[in-house]
Formats: sequence, structure tokens, C-alpha cells
Amino acid sequence: MPESTKRDFLTLHDLSRSELLALLERGRRLKAGVDGGPLLAGRSLAMIFRKSSTRTRVSFEVGMAQLGGHGVFLSDTTSQMGRGESVHDTAHVLSGYVDGIMIRTFEQEEVETLARHARVPVINGLTDRVHPCQLLADLQTMTEEFGDDLSDCPVAWIGDGNNMAHSWLNAAAILGFELRIACPEGYDPDPGIVEAARRSTRVVLTRDPGEAARGARVVTTDVWASMGQEEEAQARMAAFAGFQVDEALMASAADDAIFLHCLPAHRGEEVSAGVIDGHRSRVFQEAENRLHAQKALLLLLMGAATPPSSTTESPS
Ligand code: CP
Ligand code: NVA
Repeated sequence: MPESTKRDFLTLHDLSRSELLALLERGRRLKAGVDGGPLLAGRSLAMIFRKSSTRTRVSFEVGMAQLGGHGVFLSDTTSQMGRGESVHDTAHVLSGYVDGIMIRTFEQEEVETLARHARVPVINGLTDRVHPCQLLADLQTMTEEFGDDLSDCPVAWIGDGNNMAHSWLNAAAILGFELRIACPEGYDPDPGIVEAARRSTRVVLTRDPGEAARGARVVTTDVWASMGQEEEAQARMAAFAGFQVDEALMASAADDAIFLHCLPAHRGEEVSAGVIDGHRSRVFQEAENRLHAQKALLLLLMGAATPPSSTTESPS
């Protein structure tokens, strides 16, 4: 694929508002079975996992298979990346074999470097900074509940100002819904991402989960210690006391409010069992939507307008 025509998905801001809405609509159609088929026949996606995954791996691999293509799993222990082969070389080599690369890693910079050197689209499957694929599924779930116009759907983020919080900020900025973020001191989201979002929508930062949740139509949270922060887990447990999404907090949200969580979840820590297993929870619908929304993304980046990679092309 000529470098000039390839598109990457490194953050949600790689999509315009209209592209994002069209993608969510296509995700709903794929889910309903009124679209799809072997639209990526003969195409391959390399999937680099430098961190663990259940949903991201399975949804991308199955998504490619359902579209007639193929997903190739790579990890540090099973590839040369774990033995120090550079991102630059990996990008060049994989570009000769596959039509797209998905990567889950630590540094956003690594994903950007990969995208700069790859001749095929690069998809961010989570970094320490953002998790844009998850937001595609979360937003699809919101549109299934509330319709296409989400501008009247205040969202409450309770807990860590982490990669998920950053992607919620990006989503709020693109779609124009209000985002209230309640974090303990020392765990706020990146001020630059907050300021950028505030140029497009209302963002409230508070230390009070109750203030954030009041009247919200979505209440969402995430683990208190993300991948790579395992050594901080004890300290974080203490810092986040009082930030659990429980029944009392959900009761202060809007009457039609739903609960979302990207999963995996820790019942009894960031969310009570009663909430995540209760009638307002949409977490399994949300997890399933990873498949449908990402199939729409794969079609946008690797679909008919882009020729499949030549099987005769040299990887060098
Ligand atoms: N939500 C999410 O990305 O899940 P995995 O870590 O299982 O991929
Ligand atoms: N914030 C979490 C999300 C996992 C899907 C992490 O980075 O581990």
C-alpha cells in the first residue's frame, strides 16, 4: 500500500466526528448481520501484544476471520521484539507480509514510531496513554441505548485518570457530551488532554464521585492499577478508597443510567458486585461490541478502497 494512502488509528482523534458516527453505525449493522461477509478476503492483520489481553486479542482475531481474513498473533515471548529487534525493523518487515498491524504496548511513542515506519495501517490496541478501540465499543453501546445523538448524555468517570479516562476525554471532545471525572488527588488525567477536550466540550474535574455521578446517563470506571502498575497496587488501593462505583452512587445517576467497564474488573474494588452484575450494567454488551466496532474499523482502514498487500512483494 503506498504510504501516502494509508491511515492509522493511534487515538480517537484520527477519526473525524462524521467518520466516527459512520463507523458506529456500521458496527451496529455488522452486529445485526446486514453487512459483512468476506470483505477482507486474503488480507492479514499482525497483532503485537506486549501486554496481556483477552478481549482485544480475541475480538481482532475473530473479526478478521469473520471478514474472510487472518490475524497473526505476536508477543514478546514468541517474536524477536522480546529479544530487542527494533520497532523500525519490525515495521518494515511486517509491512511486506500483512495489510495492517495492531499493537498493544506501553509507550504511545512506540506506536507512533511503528506507524511512521509501517507501510500499512497501524491500530493502537492500548497504550499507557489511550485505549481508542475500547471507546469504539463503549460509544457503540451508548448509541444502542440512547441513539445516535450523544450530546445529551453526561458521562461520569470514577477512579483513575488513566488511559481509559484519556480516551473518554477524546470521545467527549469529538461527540460533544459532558464528561465529569472524579479522581483522588495525584491520579488526575493528563492536563494537556483535559485542556484539549475543554476546547470542544464541558469537562468537570472533581474529587467527589457523587458530584460526578449526579444525573449522569453513563457511569464508568476501570481498575485502580493498570497493566505495568502492579507494584503500586497496594498504595493505589488506599488512595482510591471511597471511589468505588456502588449501588448508592448509581442511585444518584439518571433514571436510565447504564454502567460501563472495559474489563477486566475487580469486584469489591472499583465496582461493587451488585452494580457490575446488576440491571444497569451493560459490560458484556460492551465487551461484545469490541468485535463489531473493530470490524467496522478494519473495514475502514483495510477495506475495499485499499488494495490487498502483494504476496510477491519482498519484505526487505
Ligand atoms: N478491555 C480490554 O482491552 O480487554 P483486554 O485487556 O482483555 O484486551
Ligand atoms: N487501564 C487498564 C485497561 C485494561 C483494558 C490497563 O491499562 O491495564
